[in-house]
Amino acid sequence: MTKYIGILTAGGDSPGLNAAIRGVGKTAFGYYRMQVIGFRDGFRGLVDNRTLRLDANNLAGILTVGGTILGTSRDKPHRMVVGGKVRDMTDVILENYEANHLDALVCLGGGGTQKNALRLMEKGLNIITMPKTIDNDVAMTDTTFGFDTALGIATEAIDRLHSTAHSHHRIIVVEIMGHRAGWLALGAGLAGGADVILIPELPYDTEKVAEAIRKRVRSGRNFSIVAVAEGAMSLEEGEIFRAAETRKQKAKKKSEKKAARAELEKLAQRRANHTMRLSRQLEEMTGLESRVTILGHLQRGGTPSAADRLLATRLGTACTDLINQEMYGVMVAARGEGTEPVPLDRVAGKRKLIPPDHPWLASARRVGTNLGD
Ligand code: F6P
Repeated sequence: MTKYIGILTAGGDSPGLNAAIRGVGKTAFGYYRMQVIGFRDGFRGLVDNRTLRLDANNLAGILTVGGTILGTSRDKPHRMVVGGKVRDMTDVILENYEANHLDALVCLGGGGTQKNALRLMEKGLNIITMPKTIDNDVAMTDTTFGFDTALGIATEAIDRLHSTAHSHHRIIVVEIMGHRAGWLALGAGLAGGADVILIPELPYDTEKVAEAIRKRVRSGRNFSIVAVAEGAMSLEEGEIFRAAETRKQKAKKKSEKKAARAELEKLAQRRANHTMRLSRQLEEMTGLESRVTILGHLQRGGTPSAADRLLATRLGTACTDLINQEMYGVMVAARGEGTEPVPLDRVAGKRKLIPPDHPWLASARRVGTNLGD
């Protein structure tokens, strides 16, 4: 019997999403004779039942295209703003799944999407996911697609910043994406030879960063590149955040949880300009002029790298193989040269952070990079 597959992309877009959609789609209708429909704009399109039939024509030529042909959103099925109110739209999703006669729903996304997918699986849907995000922080997979492309872009930015920092004898503080995990900042910082790398996993001592820069000046190198992850924190900020996180984890009542969430949001807002603040502090503490470059969404845009196209294609084709075998409730993880289905409950709610003994950190220390600790 012909199988019917639905597919959606959720969360922040990521280079390689179209390659993954193509991998799933081509294997599905070309190899297994399945039918595939896409839902537009993530879970929002699943609620609105806004669909797009995927076939050989509309999958042609998308392998190399950035973004997602389906569109995306950060909407969550169980907490969606509809008509100005936050509502649980899970039942509507179940109805639309049935109405489209789906045998399986493929969700492409990062950590948040894995959690939403698990919730839908628990409601009885046949769900299968793939790990995408430039942050590389999805648990239980070697890597995520989008990361390699963003790593290349951030590295090239650091390369380019070197010549201008050097010419003007300045500090350039370059902010790299990654609120919770520092893979991108650490990877690009190492590949681009940043003098200081600051990541969320290692709260930094501003004085130690300033001293590393002063030491460079004393040895005749009167410029420095500081690669800082969006979520990097000073020791003081780190302590405040950790306390708020603990309060959130310990919260039992709904009202306590809500208050803890609001507190964390407020703290995050207060940190919005932390890279500018750090730049000013370093200027004062070292006597060097300092400038800030925020790479922002440049890191997510444009053509996916060859490595991301390859990864997304092999995850996508493996995903359809698993659907053919009716293996659901799993994320298709990258494992070495191959892939591996990992039960969703082992992925959802977890985040892959950089462990303190990670080889990239050891290498950074060996080459004399300051990590602010
Ligand atoms: O998708 C991951 C990510 O790019 C993070 O690195 C970044 O912190 C966040 O998304 C930005 O989100 P938005 O695009 O919604 O502003």
